Amino acid sequence: MVSNPRLGAKPLRLLSSLISSRVMSDKLKRLQAALGEHDLDLLVLNPGPTMFYLTDHAFTSHERLFLLLLPRVGDAVAVVPLLEEGNWRHAVPSVARVFPWDDADGPEAAAKQAFAALSGAHRVGIEPLALRYMEYSYLARMLPKSEVVSAEAAVSSLRLRKSQAEAEAIRVAARIAEAALDEVLRGVKVGSREDEIASHLASELLRRGGGAISFGPIVLGGPKSALPHGVPDERRLRAGELLLIDFGTSHRGYHCDITRCFVVGAEPDERTRSVYQAVLDANRAGCAASRPGVTAGDVHQVCQAGFEDPKWQAYMKHRTGHGLGIDIHEPPSIMRGNDQRLEAGMVFTVEPGLYLEGWGGVRIEDDLWLTADGSESLTSYPRELRVIAGPGPDIAGRKSEIGA
Ligand code: GLY
Ligand code: MN
Ligand code: MN
Repeated sequence: MVSNPRLGAKPLRLLSSLISSRVMSDKLKRLQAALGEHDLDLLVLNPGPTMFYLTDHAFTSHERLFLLLLPRVGDAVAVVPLLEEGNWRHAVPSVARVFPWDDADGPEAAAKQAFAALSGAHRVGIEPLALRYMEYSYLARMLPKSEVVSAEAAVSSLRLRKSQAEAEAIRVAARIAEAALDEVLRGVKVGSREDEIASHLASELLRRGGGAISFGPIVLGGPKSALPHGVPDERRLRAGELLLIDFGTSHRGYHCDITRCFVVGAEPDERTRSVYQAVLDANRAGCAASRPGVTAGDVHQVCQAGFEDPKWQAYMKHRTGHGLGIDIHEPPSIMRGNDQRLEAGMVFTVEPGLYLEGWGGVRIEDDLWLTADGSESLTSYPRELRVIAGPGPDIAGRKSEIGA
């Protein structure tokens, strides 16, 4: 709470809740316009990324029915578990038509009341990666004549282009992540266990103010680094092998996602240098190609052009990158064949990788924010190949702006 001797604390608190309520009303109106453009009569949201986008509050429902119903025209209504009603009224004052239900009674009556005025909705949009069968079954019973379709395009049209504040939140998350990585690398030795490094990283992210562990940190040594989404375990690092670390945290609900690779305890051999250089060149090419006006497929093509060399072709396992923000993976997908044109404000990863089964893999991942005529990297951790836990530059010497 900011204290102001003239206004006192209370008026400032009121002012801030009025401002956020205005922002939310504006987002609801823009979303209603997007429903019209995508021929949707009603949007049904359960707690998930878009409800967070609208309310700025991370509601959870567990097994309970919790829905925000936004018609194309008219006021939104909400079906809210009783224990969340206080949270809802505080965080979402602009959606005042709330139908709370209590555990003993169950949600049936509240759901019937909430859906009563919506029976004319023909096309009903849902978030395909958030809505579960439990919510879907209510929806199918309450609106039996409606067609249920994905609202991803309508929702994305709002969430795709990040505001300055959203991009800054990702940048703050990235600074916390990079400072945490510096700290953790100081303790890595030949013989360290992957799972211990991953736990240390997770705790450093939270200790330095990260809002969440975006996903279980991927910490993989030697041959395991050839698994793009491998799982850390008790395996111990050996001298001269690769160490791949892919992780993220959030700030104000917005995530970063960064990957760096290192060589442990000995100078890299020729093969390691050559694979690393090919991936670094791809990362640089992908970042340089990222600007408004080109397609997502164009960025992929430029980024991975070097991998078309027959010596690398068998070692590509995934697209160039993905959008990120409230979700770790969201549009746009930076991949072959995606004709979506990139626009200023979009945030996405550029994360080329080469994975040689039985030997090891390298991925270098950065988070880009598209500006009017190019891009800015929200991640800034050094990309050059480095030896840790042994000879090489002093990684502890690098100053971080947050938590150093
Ligand atoms: N980490 C690469 C992907 O999931 O696309
Ligand atoms: Mn990642
Ligand atoms: Mn990623």
